[in-house]
Amino acid sequence: MNTHTRLHALTVAATLALAALAPAQADSGRRMPANVPAAYTQECGACHLAFPPSLLPAKSWQRLMTGLDKHYGSDASLDAALQQQIGAWLQAHAGTYKRVREEPPQDRITRTEWFLRKHREVEPTMWKLASVKSAANCGACHGGAERGEFDDDKLLTPAGADTRMRHARHD
Ligand code: HEC
Ligand code: HEC
Repeated sequence: MNTHTRLHALTVAATLALAALAPAQADSGRRMPANVPAAYTQECGACHLAFPPSLLPAKSWQRLMTGLDKHYGSDASLDAALQQQIGAWLQAHAGTYKRVREEPPQDRITRTEWFLRKHREVEPTMWKLASVKSAANCGACHGGAERGEFDDDKLLTPAGADTRMRHARHD
């Protein structure tokens, strides 16, 4: 091994070590896994954000996937093969960390305690803007929503909002 190769090997080792540390970060559990099936993006991203599976517990995903014909007032049915493929992937990547373990009302991410707590400071009028319409429309306010990145530094001001969004840090 010449010096250059050795240096390179060291850099790789250091990068791997850092990557191994990353899951300890507070937000990394929310990230979109790397192996998203195309069917998930296509089918479950057709009407709204393809939500990161880590945002709901396995039980909630299971109920959602077995009631797709009556999906929050929509018919989101899939053929059996797709339902099985997407369902299995959601089960494998469902949220397991402490605050996601509890099943929220209506199996909604937007009804979880952590969601309500994190959005306590958002102006009530903000949710009603035409560019937002629903709290489930994460991408209207979070620049990294497709990748499961919801950190404060990627916040967008939704179209039509007259002030930049206030954001104070909590917990
Ligand atoms: C035909 C349109 C449509 C398709 C396709 C669809 N959904 Fe939905 N979904 C909706 C609607 C409408 C809501 C309610 C949104 C709201 O209240 O703002 C919703 C809400 C949700 C919510 C709750 C969001 C919240 O409030 O926290 C989850 C989770 C969800 N969908 C998952 C999925 C998954 C998984 C798939 C794919 C299997 C899927 N959806 C496919 C229309 C759809
Ligand atoms: C109307 C705009 C808006 C919508 C829609 C919205 N958020 Fe947020 N979100 C915010 C703001 C503003 C903050 C920062 C709040 C604070 O710091 O007080 C935030 C904070 C967060 C945080 C905490 C980030 C951190 O670094 O602690 C998470 C996680 C989050 N949002 C997830 C979501 C998810 C998931 C959705 C969709 C289901 C969503 N948000 C929809 C505006 C929004």
